[in-house]
Amino acid sequence: MKADPCTYVIFGATGNLSRVKLMPALYHLDIAKRLPEGTRILAIGRRPWDQKKWLAEVRDMVQAKARDDFDESLFQRFSERLQYHQGDIQQEQCYRELAELLNQKNKFPKNIAFYLSISPSDFGRVMELLSNNSLFDEEYGWRRVIIEKPFGYDLDSAEALQKRISHYLTEEQIYRIDHYLGKGMVQNVLVFRFANVMLEPLWNRNYIDHIQITHSEEIGIESRGEYYNSAGAMRDMLQSHLLQLLTLVTMEPPVSMEAEALRDEKVKVLKSIRPIPKEAVHGHAFRGQYAKGHVNGEKVNGYLQEDNVPANSVTETYASMKLYIDNWRWRGVPFYMRTGKRMAKAQSTISICFRHPPLQFFRDTDVQCMNQNWVLLGIQPEECIRIEMTVKEPGLEMSTRTRSLDASFRNEDEKSIDAYEDLLLDVLKGDRSLFLRFDEVEYAWRIVDPILQTWAIERDYIATYPAGSWGPEDSRLFDKSVQSWRSSLTPECK
Ligand code: BG6
Repeated sequence: MKADPCTYVIFGATGNLSRVKLMPALYHLDIAKRLPEGTRILAIGRRPWDQKKWLAEVRDMVQAKARDDFDESLFQRFSERLQYHQGDIQQEQCYRELAELLNQKNKFPKNIAFYLSISPSDFGRVMELLSNNSLFDEEYGWRRVIIEKPFGYDLDSAEALQKRISHYLTEEQIYRIDHYLGKGMVQNVLVFRFANVMLEPLWNRNYIDHIQITHSEEIGIESRGEYYNSAGAMRDMLQSHLLQLLTLVTMEPPVSMEAEALRDEKVKVLKSIRPIPKEAVHGHAFRGQYAKGHVNGEKVNGYLQEDNVPANSVTETYASMKLYIDNWRWRGVPFYMRTGKRMAKAQSTISICFRHPPLQFFRDTDVQCMNQNWVLLGIQPEECIRIEMTVKEPGLEMSTRTRSLDASFRNEDEKSIDAYEDLLLDVLKGDRSLFLRFDEVEYAWRIVDPILQTWAIERDYIATYPAGSWGPEDSRLFDKSVQSWRSSLTPECK
């Protein structure tokens, strides 16, 4: 697909996301010559900055994240694309002035992508004001809007938001970002599954015992207390990123890579997930909150001591759940998912555990028990695909050990690119395959809503775990006593 020259209008341009992700991503796209000729980046912010100050700010943002040595001449070229526009996004005047600016002759490309890196509570209002000022009219070029998560707070609010924004935009104009879909290794999950035939016949309930998805972080909530305390781990990670990973691992092969085909298959998975009745929530989900502890040898505060967190908060910083997909391929296979802040190690992994082979063949040997085969997909920081096999130990005895076959997708000299680079470029190409369609968001909320509703009324107690640990004791989620969380990408001998 060809990328069109466009004007990227960034709302919330002075905020954290823009600083650490958006500006560095646009810079890297520019130096890789992937931004079409003429593309401009118009930043909207409330601060009274002039162009000089804005360029100095962007220089800092880019320098802090530059993959290679910072190159002054490349930055000069990038800076020619940049412009700052001061305005209060709550006020109509900001949009009138914006419309005037964008309509100036030959200054800005007429294709416009609006990136809303703002509080979700402002999405509806900002779109209304953009629409009132004819900024969504597509007479002279396309108009697209990129929305950051969270899309709603629960099913009802997501539906209300969708209803509101559909007054102003068609579904084709909306790009709901889940940055996990921009990660190289996440896309590699699709390649691994659909470009190789070897594992496909085994990828089902007949051979797979269970699947685990873990996203753990060492960092705490940093300065996001206000947002995080109203969200919690279930909304922040599980409802979005982890359920997306689940769909990619379990969906049927789509008829093509085309956006609708891919998203149709993902939605089918979400629709097949067995609903969790409220009375079964405790058997299916667990929540915890970090207490003080040590991360990487450093003493850290507990959640309740973080800024902007009420002393009696029961917001979860760890959430785990068990799901079943009631379809032909997966019926009866448990899926265990967990995420947490301030855990022992920062990593995202998908671990697929195969069933035990029959042991009769080894009846009269030293082989008492064999490890199950695992396929391990390391998403980050280690990006890898490993298949664990049982092999014979050298020597006279018939005993075994586990070895892993490695199909890592990046060579050592190949640098990783940030997910936002991929996604920001897709917007220019009009490729929505890595963005969420509304029904994906809707069904994801349907899955977690009963859990969130139950937790919302249970305000007296939450389990805690020491910062720097692997989370609270939640083994009651597992269907069998031999199942447990897998945290390592190297063979674990039992
Ligand atoms: C964000 C969450 O969507 O994803 C954060 O709001 C979380 O709380 C982050 O830390 C994790 O993303 P990544 O790319 O660092 O794994």
